Amino acid sequence: MAMMVTPLTPDFCAEITGIDITLPLDEAEFTAIRAAFDRWSVLIFPEQPLDDASQIAFSENFGPLEPTRSVNPAAGTPFARQSNLDIETGAVIPADDRRMAYQKANMLWHSDSTFKAVLSLCSVLSAREVPPVGGATQFASTRAAYEGLDEPVRARLKAAVVEHDFSHSRALVGFEFTAQEAAPFPAVRHRLVRVNANSGRKSVLIGAHAKLIVGWKAEESRDMLDDLLARAQQHAYSHEWRQGDVVIWDNQAALHRATPYDSVRHRRLMQRTTISSRNEADAP
Ligand code: OGA
Ligand code: MN
Repeated sequence: MAMMVTPLTPDFCAEITGIDITLPLDEAEFTAIRAAFDRWSVLIFPEQPLDDASQIAFSENFGPLEPTRSVNPAAGTPFARQSNLDIETGAVIPADDRRMAYQKANMLWHSDSTFKAVLSLCSVLSAREVPPVGGATQFASTRAAYEGLDEPVRARLKAAVVEHDFSHSRALVGFEFTAQEAAPFPAVRHRLVRVNANSGRKSVLIGAHAKLIVGWKAEESRDMLDDLLARAQQHAYSHEWRQGDVVIWDNQAALHRATPYDSVRHRRLMQRTTISSRNEADAP
């Protein structure tokens, strides 16, 4: 059976079937997936139950993996864990635990790792345990946001550089890093306008970590970042997970956010690998 690409909105997000990503891929298979990724920004693979080894093998097709260094419970492994389950015991983490407060920032529109000096190409998220209701993940197109701008605004943004700061985004949800936790994450700067090296299509790098546009007046900077976010949200898609689903998103062309679920009564375990843009022509 040949791989099938089913668009979920006219220009953003597609479902991929007819291919088994739990097994090693040949070159032709990965080339088809990579082309779909560049075209649709978010790919949804239903019912592809990855384990740790197969998730790493699949993810490495895209490039080198980022190590996890933050206060994420999976720090020190290639995984980032979004979960209400204790990594050691599997028991539900109490709602008032600091680990749950840390995850609240995932409910802000963001793209992964924009607070790092080397950007991420994409993330791969596999649904290991899924609550019966809630806990969908939403996606918004920052390519559509850029492409909807008129020429004078594009010209204004052409050389714009944005400061991204991990402490800034966590502070937005009332989570404070200790000085020691914040030390590995000084604010970084990235060009606002990104170009997909394969398609030539442009997008904007925004989201919760984006603190300000360097050299702009504070209010103008905030207004522009908010306007771009509002534009991205006009091209959105919400994915309701089933156990075993795998989703890949382009961290430079899409934003995503988690949505609430009953974390006291239900279990949720999502495991992410994050692919670095280090090998890409359009590295930062
Ligand atoms: C992530 C993330 C959202 C979710 O894994 O990077 O933001 O719904 N996840 O768990
Ligand atoms: Mn994320």
